Formats: sequence, structure tokens, C-alpha cells
Amino acid sequence: MPEIYTPEEDSYLLSKVLKENIPRLINKEKSLKILEIGPGSGIQIQTLLNLGIEKEKIFSADINHEAVIHCQKLGFNCIESNLFEKINDKYDIIIFNPPYLPEDKKEPKDSKLATTGGKEGSEIINEFLKQAKDHLNKDGKIFLLISSLTRQINWLDYNKKIIDTKKMFFEELYVLELTI
Ligand SMILES: C[S@@+](CC[C@H](N)C(=O)[O-])C[C@H]1O[C@@H](n2cnc3c(N)ncnc32)[C@H](O)[C@@H]1O
Repeated sequence: MPEIYTPEEDSYLLSKVLKENIPRLINKEKSLKILEIGPGSGIQIQTLLNLGIEKEKIFSADINHEAVIHCQKLGFNCIESNLFEKINDKYDIIIFNPPYLPEDKKEPKDSKLATTGGKEGSEIINEFLKQAKDHLNKDGKIFLLISSLTRQINWLDYNKKIIDTKKMFFEELYVLELTI
């Protein structure tokens, strides 16, 4: 059974970015509607709640059934979905800390779903980028985490800005803000 991802450096970097950026976005637009793809343990949606976003405005979808049940038990709106498969709405902000590592045959099957993005590490990200643009409101933003180990990301026509980074000894993590 796939494990629920325990927060790591990537989770903490993304959570820091949300704490630093969501307040200024709340000032512009009081009732932000936010979607997280892949909430896992719920760390990012809990951060949004702590920042003052109402629970009714926070939506999430994970492919891992256990993570969905966990987030629902925390009281969040969470559905089981492969990326946007079961999602029809549009959002002001979409957040994703995806599986971004290239395949490693030694990675246990149970943790693969949360960490491995195919051969190059970008399989899930590229599919996300294709679908996400249809779910962004006008002036909407995406906060996406990637790694220096992720190869061959197809950025399509998104505008991208690096808003935070974290250097570790074997990789560097980046959080990007994407707009259309
Ligand atoms: C690296 S974990 C991040 C978990 C949490 N958001 C965090 O920041 O700690 C990636 C999450 O994405 C989910 N996921 C992987 N592929 C997915 C897909 N195709 N659709 C939806 N969720 C997916 C995994 O189940 C996992 O919960």
C-alpha cells in the first residue's frame, strides 16, 4: 500500500513560500479559492488554514487513497483523483509538490508514488502543466516545487519565476511561481 508522504525539506520549503506569499495575495483578493494537488499529510493545506484561508475555500486531490482519507479526517475537502481527472473547477491558486525524482530502481514501491516522476522525473509534472492551465482563474498562480535532479520539464507557455530555493548537498530545490 502506498505510504502517506512524511513532510521533508521540499514540504518545508513550499510551506515557507506559502507563509511568505499568501498574505499579500489575500490582501488583493479576500476570498482566494485554492487547490492543492497531492496534499499527502496535509502540511500545505494546514498552512493555508493557519494563514486564514477558510476551509471551504481550500480544495485538494490526491491519487493515494490513504492520503485522501487522512486529509478528510483532518476536516479538509479532499478527493481521490489522478491530477485534474475528477476536477472541473477553476482556482486562484494551485499548489503542487509533485513526485519529481527520476526513477531509481532501489526506491521501495510504497514510497514511489510520492517521489518518483518517471524516467526523467518530469512525467507527472509535464502532465500537470498540460492540465493546470484549464483550471486557473484569470490572474491565477501556480506554486510548483521542482528539483535540480528533475530533467526535461516541458514548460509550455507558462511565465515562470523562481521564488525560493534550498541547496542540499546532493540537489537544489526550487519553488516556482507560474502564470499564464
Ligand atoms: C512529494 S509528496 C507531497 C506531499 C505534501 N503535499 C507535502 O508537501 O509534503 C507528493 C504527493 O502527490 C501525490 N501524487 C502523486 N502523483 C499524483 C497524481 N498523479 N495525482 C494526484 N496526486 C498525486 C502523492 O500521493 C503525494 O501525496
